[in-house]
Amino acid sequence: MKVIRTVEGLTRIIKEKKQLNRTIGFVPTMGYLHEGHVTLMDQCRKETDVVVVSIFVNPLQFGPNEDFERYPRDEERDAHLALSHGADILFLPSMEEMYPSTRSIEMTVVKRNDVLCGRSRQGHFDGVVTVLTKLFHLTQADVAYFGLKDAQQVAIVKGLIDDYNFPIKIRTIQTVRESDGLAKSSRNVYLTEEERNQATNIYKSLLLAQNSISEGNKNIDQIKEKMIGWIKQNTSATIDYIEILDYPSLEQIETINKRTIIAIAVHFTNVRLIDNVIVNEN
Ligand code: PAJ
Repeated sequence: MKVIRTVEGLTRIIKEKKQLNRTIGFVPTMGYLHEGHVTLMDQCRKETDVVVVSIFVNPLQFGPNEDFERYPRDEERDAHLALSHGADILFLPSMEEMYPSTRSIEMTVVKRNDVLCGRSRQGHFDGVVTVLTKLFHLTQADVAYFGLKDAQQVAIVKGLIDDYNFPIKIRTIQTVRESDGLAKSSRNVYLTEEERNQATNIYKSLLLAQNSISEGNKNIDQIKEKMIGWIKQNTSATIDYIEILDYPSLEQIETINKRTIIAIAVHFTNVRLIDNVIVNEN
């Protein structure tokens, strides 16, 4: 595995691989890698010739009162994990490499951005599409891998690719969970012990909704109320949002008929966590 920190270094090695007609797979991350990230790498290893992993905590996608400064970082451990999951190239750019000067053009997400995390984290997805545009160009990836843990991110990135004709395919994986159901997240380390125990109820509330739907309940307000009740009764968390929307359009729906996302975000003392399930897949 080659560890590369500069745009120039990455550009050189990608050019070599392209000349050899190798397919390039790309797993963008912000590091502090866990099983969700390495599952993306494993998938990428199976499907492409060259596995490129990036680790960059992108300041543009954090709001002023969010956790950019204290986002967990552990480069050495991450490098071991990336290596043992088949990465060929680990791209670890500094802030200066990624953003050497102020931008002359800014990107704004205008669709699917007024709901869920787009609404509660103003500017977040503008930052995500900006960094991904740069990374997609730099890696010249044929395929990029994303987790459905961030289902809104997947839908928005697909919009970016379609709108601007990026020659790149998106592959997704299901959310990887702890044995008690909590979605793996780099931010889980900020839960207190008690909160960690309570946090299993985030997924439980989603399952409650999912079960209610499979029993024939189509009433969105009623399902949301059930979830709110469950979170209030079983955790000390405050609810940021609970939303039930069409997926992937993320449009509001009256009742549950087709492919639907049930999504939740909650705040514990030092951390905000998100999770979702998608129902009626077929
Ligand atoms: P990060 O939160 O590090 O996540 C990197 C990738 O791992 C994303 O595609 C995310 O959906 C996936 N992932 C995280 N937790 C997962 C889980 N429990 N199961 C499955 N996949 C999971 O998402 C970002 O970074 C950034 O926004 C990024 C795309 C790198 C742009 O800066």
